[in-house]
Amino acid sequence: KDEVASLLVTGGAGFIGSNFVRYLARVNPQAKVVVLDKMTYAANPHNLDGLSRKPIVIRGDICDSSLVEQIVEQHHINGIIHFAAESHNDNSIRDAAPFIHTNIYGTYVLLEAARRHDLRFHHVSTDEVFGDTSVGDVTRFDESSPYRPSSPYSATKAASDHLVRAWWRTYGTRVTITNSSNNYGPFQHVEKFIPRQITNILTGHRPKLYGQGEDVRDWLSVEDDCRAIWNVYRRGRLGQTYLVGADNRLSNLAVVQMILAMMNRPLDEVEFVRDRPGADRRYAIDASKIRRELGWKPLQADFAKSLEATIEWYKRHESWWMPAKQTTELRYRQEGH
Ligand code: NAD
Ligand code: DAU
Repeated sequence: KDEVASLLVTGGAGFIGSNFVRYLARVNPQAKVVVLDKMTYAANPHNLDGLSRKPIVIRGDICDSSLVEQIVEQHHINGIIHFAAESHNDNSIRDAAPFIHTNIYGTYVLLEAARRHDLRFHHVSTDEVFGDTSVGDVTRFDESSPYRPSSPYSATKAASDHLVRAWWRTYGTRVTITNSSNNYGPFQHVEKFIPRQITNILTGHRPKLYGQGEDVRDWLSVEDDCRAIWNVYRRGRLGQTYLVGADNRLSNLAVVQMILAMMNRPLDEVEFVRDRPGADRRYAIDASKIRRELGWKPLQADFAKSLEATIEWYKRHESWWMPAKQTTELRYRQEGH
């Protein structure tokens, strides 16, 4: 079966999904790409502007099983690459309901479509399902790490991973999963850490650090993640999970100071704000399996260089992020962040 001829990309108008559709347009331009996206606050239809071969974009909910069925049949879909999710931890702490609905029920709906039509199914997941490496004696997560999610968001992603594995084991649905670390790059919503700090500086505000800024994240360029996802989709072993990370572990304070230096601001121009309840202190990924089995490695491993490019992107795309900035900051202010 040709698994790359007609692809359904859920959440393709969000951050990683739109970068992935752009990446596909380069590496697999002959494929038909259908994007199914609910166009929540996190989406931006302009994320897919400027592509010479335009994807078919359908505004709709992955939880709508008759819509999913209709799309699969009408477009002769061969495979699903599933990005759609509620993705922001702070939002999940405020209201978990849409996370439970979209991330768990929505994944079930797509798995059922994959089962009925024998579609290849790739699930885009997160290292957050493993919880916090600062608990116990964990140094890095690998594919055998126990699931220990901390937030409502990560608990729903963990649940969705379990569903995917159950569909493989019970029905033989042809699935793979990637669990990747924190992505950064163009088209990332201003609620997320790096875009928030860059756009704070661009609007004359200080970067905001939760707690003491000591949490550690393992930063991965979105381009490297998209390449990993595509590799796993085409060549990964069915039923398997692959962890994706680039060994770029830095404290939030260190990242903010890099951004301040790159934007010619004093290094102490930061504000410490209320921490996230239940916050994970540290994530770290051991990506040996995807490196060994699929030969994947990060090509944008120079974090400083890619961060500088990301800053430049936000400087040049003010009209893209400005409409969301005010509402995002208002919400953060109300919660002491
Ligand atoms: P995002 O919030 O930027 O985009 C999510 C997209 O999903 C949006 O376009 C939104 O409109 C769409 N969506 C939400 N609910 C939907 C629904 N019910 N039906 C259809 N579409 C819906 O998220 P992102 O950062 O691009 O993350 C994409 C995926 O990657 C998520 O599954 C996330 O858990 C996972 N992930 C993210 C990161 C990261 O660092 N951002 C790291 C690892 C894994
Ligand atoms: O690890 C992968 C995960 O990375 C993905 O699954 C999530 O979808 C994605 O949102 C991201 O989750 P985090 O919670 O790690 O990312 P966030 O950008 O929200 O925060 C990163 C760190 O920065 C975290 O320690 C909280 C802190 N932070 C965040 C914001 C928004 C700040 O210090 N200041 C801020 O303003």
